[in-house]
Amino acid sequence: MSISGLIKGSGASGFGWSSTAAGVTEGLDLTGRNILITGCNSGLGLETMRVLVERGATVFAAARSREKAEAAGAEVGGETIAVVCELSDPTSVRACVDEVRGHGRRLDAIICNAGIMALPERELLFGYEKQFFTNHVGHFILVTGLLDQLTDDGRVVVLSSDAHRTAPRAGIEFGNLTAEKSYGGWKAYSHSKLANLLFARELGRRFAEAGSKRTATAVHPGPIDTNLTRHMNAVARFTWTTLGPLFLKSVPEGAATQVWAAVHPDVARHNGEYLADCNVGKSTKNGADAEMARRLWEETERIVEQLA
Ligand SMILES: NC(=O)c1ccc[n+]([C@@H]2O[C@H](COP(=O)([O-])OP(=O)(O)OC[C@H]3O[C@@H](n4cnc5c(N)ncnc54)[C@H](OP(=O)(O)O)[C@@H]3O)[C@@H](O)[C@H]2O)c1
Repeated sequence: MSISGLIKGSGASGFGWSSTAAGVTEGLDLTGRNILITGCNSGLGLETMRVLVERGATVFAAARSREKAEAAGAEVGGETIAVVCELSDPTSVRACVDEVRGHGRRLDAIICNAGIMALPERELLFGYEKQFFTNHVGHFILVTGLLDQLTDDGRVVVLSSDAHRTAPRAGIEFGNLTAEKSYGGWKAYSHSKLANLLFARELGRRFAEAGSKRTATAVHPGPIDTNLTRHMNAVARFTWTTLGPLFLKSVPEGAATQVWAAVHPDVARHNGEYLADCNVGKSTKNGADAEMARRLWEETERIVEQLA
């Protein structure tokens, strides 16, 4: 256990920083559940899928290529269905929606796990900053395309991050979604993770407004050493790996909160919440701004319509 784990202990749920994905699902039988996860082939996604299939779920394993999805499925065993979802390409995301629909199974959960972090140079996709587009817009197309496949009490879990705390002071930069006024790799990542958080808040609000039992939650998994760090510079990478044992979670610990959010019975009452360390967490003021969340939803709909 890391020093952070020793200090933080457990919270109201009975779980905490050092809980693992296997630990939070102990005793749960997920046979008959169908769960879709993006980014199934690496880091938290792979561990999430491993534990879900171990508990009996069927996992729609989404990766950027069929080869990656199939290899990840083979690695974890159990029942997985490989699907392709390249989030930076709306045509691929829509094809994924069609492919999943084609299987005719209702989804008990969709876990929006895939993500990219801290691209050193400003890059654009369809005129929008790449991290915002990939992490947020890609998942928006996927989830909204599959909403009618979600079971009546189905869950949408969106990977955000405590990095949302360092998003621009004004929150979502509606006037700078191209990042042409200013670009920083970390700032753009934080901005995209704030968008992930607000997407979950607004989706949860819409579910509640419709009187549905469906839920949407946002997750901060903790700091974990995964392939996500590939764009870190040498100094950051050195610090991360050297001090890692003190403050990082292991991958099984890192996957715990999203697995808890997707399948634990207790989480049904946490619609619209920001979850961290397998408990309800506290976001920034912008991260709880319902008006900003509504505006982001409408702006994203506009972006997506424009792409069609
Ligand atoms: N690790 C942390 O400390 C940490 C902290 C806070 C939040 N998070 C969040 O946790 C999530 C999982 O991250 P991780 O740490 O497990 O990172 P990871 O090991 O790098 O996994 C990221 C996954 O996303 C996939 N992906 C990247 N770009 C994609 C695209 N354009 N289309 C579809 N899939 C794409 C990757 O596929 P390829 O392998 O093919 O590139 C990979 O499967 C991310 O959303 C991240 O923001 C992580």
